[in-house]
Amino acid sequence: MFDVGEFRSHFPILGSSSSAAKLVYVDNAATTQKPTCVISSICDFYQSYNSNINHGLYDFAIRATEAYESTRSRIAKYLNVSDREIVFTYGTTDGMNILAASYGRKFLAANDEVLLGAAEHHSSCLPWRQVSAEMGARVKIIPLRGEQWELDVDFYRSMFSKHTKLVVIQHISNVLGNENNIKLLSEIAHENGAKIIIDGAASMVHGPMDLRAIDCDFFVTSGHKSFGPSGSGFMFGKYELLRDMPPFRMGGRMVNEVSFDGIVCKSPPERFEGGTPSIASTIGFGESIKFLSEIDWVAAKQYLAKLSKHCRDKLLEVEDIKLYGSGEAAIFSFNVASIHCHDVATILAQHGIAVRAGHHCAQPLMGLLGAVGTARLSLCLYNTFEEIDFTAAILKTCKNYFA
Ligand code: ALA
Repeated sequence: MFDVGEFRSHFPILGSSSSAAKLVYVDNAATTQKPTCVISSICDFYQSYNSNINHGLYDFAIRATEAYESTRSRIAKYLNVSDREIVFTYGTTDGMNILAASYGRKFLAANDEVLLGAAEHHSSCLPWRQVSAEMGARVKIIPLRGEQWELDVDFYRSMFSKHTKLVVIQHISNVLGNENNIKLLSEIAHENGAKIIIDGAASMVHGPMDLRAIDCDFFVTSGHKSFGPSGSGFMFGKYELLRDMPPFRMGGRMVNEVSFDGIVCKSPPERFEGGTPSIASTIGFGESIKFLSEIDWVAAKQYLAKLSKHCRDKLLEVEDIKLYGSGEAAIFSFNVASIHCHDVATILAQHGIAVRAGHHCAQPLMGLLGAVGTARLSLCLYNTFEEIDFTAAILKTCKNYFA
């Protein structure tokens, strides 16, 4: 049985109560709150062993390097891949830009095709549109279908041609809450000789995954959406692919030899990690992975599924609400009557309820939905049934403000 009160007690910002107190934080798809262990690990680094990594020979520099590298091992274990396949980044956007600049510039050519999901976040679609244009490649959009705007997998299957080199697709939509079957999408891409990149920004907070079994070629994500600090993230790449990719960010730490005549770069993952990284954030990220690894995921998933069903039911009680997507990944986008989503979010904020409103960095999707934006409620394991009831009750009053 999942104990939400105990879980909440790890998050100082929420207070220790499990009832809807002052802050109702339901903007978890934007960023999650941080548990004490993550916050303390960052303070501890700065208070007791702050130093740069990889260079110092004194004991606390060695400790910092070990702490930094232990994050890599924890991530690799969480996802069943090898340490050398985990490249640290500053987040999902950074990971996508590294891939576009390194893999895209080396392996895309004129007349190649890149398949992009219609619900992609700007962090995926913009780097790939830019590099495709630069290389003379074409971007084709994988459509959505049905009332819940699911990815049209049958159409996707029919889109491949001898020119298709790459698929770039979200695991979980940050707007619709729909979860794509990334194992199936990877299988289809590979049957057609294409590589696949998964935007996993919203995935890590839903529990461990077996990337080896899913068999995607690349997977990028951010730490801050799964209890870690901002400025942390990683890009997983199959080693044989990383090995053939050129560096993206030149500088210290990524090179073995430099002379006036040339350079010899390090092997992955260091090849892609030039410069002093976000050391404190990466150490905090490691703590968040440990925290995630210690959750009883069977009980936690049951709790979140019940909470999500309750949320959907309560939202549907609100008069003139329009919900977009399945919300299966605990993300609910909606509009109420013809009220602007920013007004809805402002009314909720006046009652201490934190949601996001706008286009959610998915403007092409908004065009499909026929909306300028949506209000979005995104749940996490520390949210309670009382918080949902309170939020729904306030939403029911929204129309009164404009009567
Ligand atoms: N991508 C983040 C969101 O969906 C910021 O809110």
